[in-house]
Formats: sequence, C-alpha cells, structure tokens
Amino acid sequence: MSGHDALERRLGVVGAGKIGTAVARAAVAGGYHVAISGSGAAERIELIVDVLAPGAHAVTTDEVIRYADLIVLAVPMHRFRELPRDLFADKIVADAMNYWEEIDGVDQELTTAPMGTSMIVQERFASSRVVKSLNHLGYFKFEDGRRPPGAPDRLAMATAGDDPAAVAAVIQLLDRLGFDAVDAGPLAAGFVLQPGGPVFGISHSYDGLSKLLLSEASRA
Ligand SMILES: NC(=O)c1ccc[n+]([C@@H]2O[C@H](COP(=O)([O-])OP(=O)(O)OC[C@H]3O[C@@H](n4cnc5c(N)ncnc54)[C@H](OP(=O)(O)O)[C@@H]3O)[C@@H](O)[C@H]2O)c1
Repeated sequence: MSGHDALERRLGVVGAGKIGTAVARAAVAGGYHVAISGSGAAERIELIVDVLAPGAHAVTTDEVIRYADLIVLAVPMHRFRELPRDLFADKIVADAMNYWEEIDGVDQELTTAPMGTSMIVQERFASSRVVKSLNHLGYFKFEDGRRPPGAPDRLAMATAGDDPAAVAAVIQLLDRLGFDAVDAGPLAAGFVLQPGGPVFGISHSYDGLSKLLLSEASRA
C-alpha cells in the first residue's frame, strides 16, 4: 500500500456512542484504520470500543482529528460546539448529527437553520469541508444493512456537500461501509436528509433514493 493509500484508509470518528461505534465497526470491516474518541480520556472508551468496534483505536478527540483527513462527527448536536474547531482546518467532515429538541434542548440557531443544521456546522468549522451524510438511517443499519457492491438489496445513503473532493471521499466511505451513495447536491440540500424530512429513517435502494431526491429538488 502506498503512503497515499494508507492515509486515505484512515478514518476518524468523534463520538463513541451508538452511531459512532457502529460506523467504526463497519469501517474496520471495510478496510479502514479507525481512530475513535468520546468526550474524555481514551481509557474511558477502551472497553466499549474493544467490544463494539474491535480493531478501532480509542484515543482522544484531538488525536482523532490529527490522525485522519476524513472525520465522522457523531456527537449529540448540543455538544458539537465543544469540539476544537481549529483542528478541523482542511479536514473533510462527514456530519452524521441530527438535531433533536428532546435530546439537544432548544437551540435557536439549529431550530431556525433554514438550509439545515450542517450549514451551521460548516460555519463553525469554516476551514473544513463539511458533507452531510450517514445521518438518515438508524445505527443498526450499519450492521444489518451492509451489503457488497452490486448486491440487489443494497441500501443507499445520501451525501450533500459543496466540495466535490470531500463529497467523493464520503461517497467512497459509504461504498466501503457497504452502501450505495446518492449525491443529493450542495450542503444546503442536506436539509431534506434531516429528521422530519422525506428521506429520514426510511430504507431505500439507490434508484428509490435517487428518485425521491430528484422529486424533492424539483419542488424546491
Ligand atoms: N443513534 C442513531 O441511530 C443515529 C443515527 C444517525 C445519526 N445519529 C446522530 O448522531 C449523533 C450521535 O448519536 P448517538 O445516538 O450515537 O449518541 P450517543 O449514543 O449518546 O453517543 C454520543 C457520543 O458522543 C460523545 N461525545 C459527546 N460530547 C463529545 C465531545 N465534546 N467530544 C467527543 N465526543 C463527545 C459521547 O461521549 P461521552 O459519553 O464521553 O459524553 C458519546 O460517546 C446525534 O446527533 C444523533 O442524532 C444517531
């Protein structure tokens, strides 16, 4: 493996809860070297990572961000502003977060985000390249929904982002995780992937998700 390939096979996951460990587990199976963090010291999540995502490495959040160019954000939304934003400069950020008032409390900026919450994430991590993805299916799909390329029952997930190279990296991640990827367009289109939107929580094939996103785009 060349140095470039080795770097490209690194994945960082910030958040070692339900979705973070599920993505980490699928990513290890997909050939990634995965570093994952919770909100505290690495030792606090070592056991859970060993059990739920064996092969991934428990480290601190700073270490996750330094380790990989592609980082999955999987913390509750009300906590993303705690993250060290300067470290995200030039990183590709796959934003898997959803804003739930019941969990995150009332957050005026997130509630009223007209173009979706990932735009707020992009504003905060201004020098990173945010792609909304991995957020619209339940964490268990990363276990029971994974399929090899070409499988007739392979599920699809969407990406929405403004930077073509960043979107391409997340599409490749989805493929290696076991999913087809549908490019939903710019980051602002990520709005339709959010809770309450037409895509959220429903499993689709590539064709089904593509049609749905096209019809949403034509209505916008
Ligand atoms: N659950 C799903 O099926 C699902 C699917 C798609 C998207 N999502 C979205 O993904 C996000 C996470 O959901 P979840 O269900 O995985 O939550 P969760 O099970 O509660 O896990 C949250 C994780 O984030 C960590 N965390 C909190 N603050 C942090 C910080 N400042 N730095 C680093 N790590 C931090 C927590 O660590 P500590 O325990 O140390 O605080 C915990 O490991 C939410 O926005 C959710 O809507 C969830």
